[in-house]
Amino acid sequence: MNVLVLTGSARRDSYTRRLGAALAAGLDGALAPRLTVLPFFDQDLEPAPPAEVETLRAAVAAADALVVVTPEYNGTIPGLLGNAVDWLSRPYGAGVLRGKPVVAVAASPGEVGGARAVVALRTLLGNAGAEVLGAPVTVGGVQSLLEDGTAERVVRQVADALDRTVPPATRAA
Ligand SMILES: Cc1cc2nc3c(=O)[nH]c(=O)nc-3n(C[C@H](O)[C@H](O)[C@H](O)COP(=O)(O)O)c2cc1C
Repeated sequence: MNVLVLTGSARRDSYTRRLGAALAAGLDGALAPRLTVLPFFDQDLEPAPPAEVETLRAAVAAADALVVVTPEYNGTIPGLLGNAVDWLSRPYGAGVLRGKPVVAVAASPGEVGGARAVVALRTLLGNAGAEVLGAPVTVGGVQSLLEDGTAERVVRQVADALDRTVPPATRAA
């Protein structure tokens, strides 16, 4: 299965980026470029979308499934990730997220692990037409998890959500 991992932080040493990299490695998938490469969504740009948008759309279209890893900002997702979903949700009714299997993951250094952000992310992805898989995945204390190597637990959780929901015909042998 061709899995693409998107991460929602611009920060250089981002925990969610590191978790995304661990998920991409553990799922034998690919880590998408940082979403900072995208310009702000602007409907005026829609007739001729910037190359970075077309590149990301093509990568999402080619993926069998997405994993989106978000930090929590003020109880929801960062604007950076919302901006990417806006681009991916267009053209209206025909965006590359339509019918795309997606696992939403939130991570935070706090104990609650981005529980509010993952709900917001699942709602947003569902509104854009994605097929949101499994139960919400939250990762509290993400920095220590990355240090002690237990990111494997999160890889298994996400792999389970993908395996249980993606039809067998599209699974890797
Ligand atoms: C603007 C802002 C708002 C934040 N709001 C929350 C929050 O609501 N819940 C939370 O658990 N952490 C919050 N944090 C802390 C982030 O979880 C922390 O900075 C984390 O490292 C961000 O993810 P990253 O490491 O991938 O960049 C906030 C951080 C920023 C910069």
